[in-house]
Amino acid sequence: METKLTNKVANMTKITAAITAVGKYLPEYILTNKELEKMVDTNDEWITSRTGIKERRILKEENAGTSFMAIRAAEDLIKKSGVRPEDIDMVIVATATPDMPVASTAAYTASKIGAVNAFSYDLQAACSSFLFGMSTAASYIESGRYKKVLLIGADKMSSIIDYTDRATCIIFGDGAGAALFEPNTESLGLQDEYLRTDGVGREFLKIDAGGSILPSSEETVKNNLHYVHQEGRTVFKFAVSNMADVSEKILERNKLTKDNVDWLVAHQANKRIIEATANRIGLDDDKVLLNIHRYGNTTSATLPLLLADYEGKLKKGDNLIFAAFGGGFTWGAIYLKWAYNG
Ligand code: UT7
Repeated sequence: METKLTNKVANMTKITAAITAVGKYLPEYILTNKELEKMVDTNDEWITSRTGIKERRILKEENAGTSFMAIRAAEDLIKKSGVRPEDIDMVIVATATPDMPVASTAAYTASKIGAVNAFSYDLQAACSSFLFGMSTAASYIESGRYKKVLLIGADKMSSIIDYTDRATCIIFGDGAGAALFEPNTESLGLQDEYLRTDGVGREFLKIDAGGSILPSSEETVKNNLHYVHQEGRTVFKFAVSNMADVSEKILERNKLTKDNVDWLVAHQANKRIIEATANRIGLDDDKVLLNIHRYGNTTSATLPLLLADYEGKLKKGDNLIFAAFGGGFTWGAIYLKWAYNG
């Protein structure tokens, strides 16, 4: 009797981490498949049927890096939600393309948006950066120590893409999305996560130079070693099986079925990978959030951009399954209950 009562009290006061606002920024310049046809040996039909991508955004502003977009996505969130920047406790910028190798992009972003009382850092897990960042942001909130954690996913992929390599230049785009995490006592927000990594993947999706193994030199620049190199077919196979596996697992573990999952929020790397994940968990197309046709693969920004684009359709209490797969390899799934009517 006493234990039952204690459990009840514990449940009543349990803090969960809910997303309470979202924002986004996309550069104005649109790079279409037609334009890519003039740059490399490719065609609209191939790109559309193999990836689902029709166009992507490219940041053209001079001397503007990832923070340029991160700041604007955060400002969009601040404007929409009315949150006071000085009340934000923490800013995480999930990114694979920081402004500089050293000097935190998150610190600069936090200062520029007026989050003067926040501490901040960057988080890098390739295309899973935002997903892993959700786990980090939620843990800080659940600990009870912080009340407002701003997680931004932003990448200027055009800064690391070789626009003469048709295997990669058709896929990636630039963009940023932001989500605010706050404590919730109605059991809404992050419910469960299943996150994985396997270093075997580093051979198949990487930038060879500019890090501590092979620092930048005339030689590395001459040999195009500062661009993303991907063995697409291998990454595709790992992505399809792993993203579907973790999504299935998180459903099983939480006794969810296709009928009580409302939305699949999957990393937008390839429409065929997203469809394979949706098929494995038996979800109909109308529950699958999709914007890959408009933005391509924006790496850390895909998940928050989906939330910002579909915000109007999301309802309080909806069950969302997030899934991602990226370089490293890194991958995982998160189950989250949406906390407000869009
Ligand atoms: O977000 C991080 C994780 N990344 C991913 O999840 C990406 C996973 N990989 C993919 O999405 C796909 O592998 C790609 C979209 C990158 C490539 O699609 P694919 O169906 O795996 O094509 P492939 O690499 O097997 O190439 C098939 C053919 C090849 O020609 P042959 O050897 O069959 O004659 C390629 O040379 O298509 C050719 N090809 C192209 N043709 C026209 C490769 N790229 C292009 C292109 N346009 N852009």
